[in-house]
Amino acid sequence: MMDKVGSWLDERTGVSQVWQAIFKRKIPLGVNFLYTFGAVAMFLFTLQALTGIFLAMNYSPSPEHAYDSVLYITNEVAFGSIVRGLHHWGSSAMVVVVVLHMAVVFYLGTYRYPREVTWLTGVVLLLLVLGFSFTGYLLPWDEKAYWATAVGTNMAGTVPFVGGFLLALLRGGTEIGAVSLARFYAFHTFLLPALAISLMGVHLFLVVKHGVSVPPWIWRRATTGQKKTGRR
Ligand code: HEM
Repeated sequence: MMDKVGSWLDERTGVSQVWQAIFKRKIPLGVNFLYTFGAVAMFLFTLQALTGIFLAMNYSPSPEHAYDSVLYITNEVAFGSIVRGLHHWGSSAMVVVVVLHMAVVFYLGTYRYPREVTWLTGVVLLLLVLGFSFTGYLLPWDEKAYWATAVGTNMAGTVPFVGGFLLALLRGGTEIGAVSLARFYAFHTFLLPALAISLMGVHLFLVVKHGVSVPPWIWRRATTGQKKTGRR
């Protein structure tokens, strides 16, 4: 029965090719834990998205209610403090893991031909991840959040030529207030996720298209015919 449904769907959508390309693809000999950071980043992104949806169900992005709604999530909502804690620590873990992933890609030299565009989409993804942290920091609307955002937006204001525009765009006025909070919330929950999910799609498409890179030590052995010496 399931087979019949499967082949009916496959004939009309070609879904098995997508499944094949993502989950049944061949990976090179010798890949090790260094190659897992991209997948860990993806796992963390999914965790942030899921915990973020639950937080948004009880959060209110207005100066009158933001702080209290965060207290409410932490103290009253069932599993609220766990969900908030996961989202809070997950955001730091995300930055650490994405930077590690980038460092590994740099160390292994896999940014080179033909994966330059994979690298470039990665650079934008890193900026988006930092954007999530910056915009999320204001949302609890406490003193720390307010002043961190005052400093951060002031820094954006010092960018040559476009500083004034950036400051106005981020604050929605000259001071940090209700419009700034609404904007940061909109960036954090609509704009950045839409950009990040689309770009991750391109990033992963390119990873599947080019296949995972052959580890340099395996490549060296294969091209020079060198015999295995030691661990590598
Ligand atoms: C949200 C952030 C990111 C996610 C979710 C992500 C996800 C992934 C995944 C799942 C892979 C395949 C497995 C692997 O090689 O680890 C990968 C590969 C790759 N990523 Fe990322 N990545 C992110 C950020 C970045 C950044 C910041 C860079 C560099 C600036 C980058 C550059 C690359 C490159 C060049 C590859 C190909 C590596 C290879 O074939 O060996 N990525 N990424």
